[in-house]
Amino acid sequence: MANFPEIIAFVNQKGGVGKSTGAVHAADRFARKGKKVILVDADAQQSSSQWVAELNESHPELKLSAQAIVDPEDLFDKLQKLTAECDLIVVDGPAKSNEITKAILARCHIALIPCRESIVELRSSGDILRLIRQVRELRGDMPKAAIFLTQVKNGTVLLREAREALGEDPDIPLMKTIIYDRQVFKDAPGQATTVYGMPGKPAKEAAGLYDSLFKEALKIFNG
Ligand SMILES: Nc1ncnc2c1ncn2[C@@H]1O[C@H](COP(=O)(O)OP(=O)(O)O)[C@@H](O)[C@H]1O
Ligand SMILES: [Mg+2]
Repeated sequence: MANFPEIIAFVNQKGGVGKSTGAVHAADRFARKGKKVILVDADAQQSSSQWVAELNESHPELKLSAQAIVDPEDLFDKLQKLTAECDLIVVDGPAKSNEITKAILARCHIALIPCRESIVELRSSGDILRLIRQVRELRGDMPKAAIFLTQVKNGTVLLREAREALGEDPDIPLMKTIIYDRQVFKDAPGQATTVYGMPGKPAKEAAGLYDSLFKEALKIFNG
């Protein structure tokens, strides 16, 4: 039997890359698979905890709950305690704060890093890769981590560029799954849902992208 991570975190100190979108879709998807999920929103803007609160009203059967925890010390303590109350915690990381991001990395089992432009941008935006390496020194190679490209417009060839730039870093791989730029992702929060709860072909296709991402993440976790 494959192991399942108890804490999945979406981190990147760069804003607007897709952390909250990824976190809420992960929470929704695993709740639909029957897991008891708590989303921990570590961003002071609290967009994902609001989104989950609304999602919970329109889809009470998912039994999703959200907590906003932005203090690094609280995160360190509470993330550990909350694992007793659910099957899975999904953490939505903040922009800017290395301190909060480090507290999340100190507790999560897998860190997923959405990246919009290029790896060059990723290295410059607070250097999440460096934080992960530092925390791994303390935790004996935890957390697992992987980068994924998001909001990629059809036909852009940044994947090869990204792979080449990443070549030297097999410990934090670039995921094969690419999350493309799709209008349904922008529409979902305003409709108090995710692409998993939206009708129509574009939503179904968009849901397939995140399905594939989470499958790949579990493989990396067990890898
Ligand atoms: N795959 C996507 N396609 C199109 N728009 C997206 C996609 N993922 C996220 N977005 C939009 O991009 C913006 C930033 O995403 P968000 O998840 O809030 O990023 P972060 O939490 O990293 O700041 C939001 O308006 C969101 O709706
Ligand atoms: Mg966010």
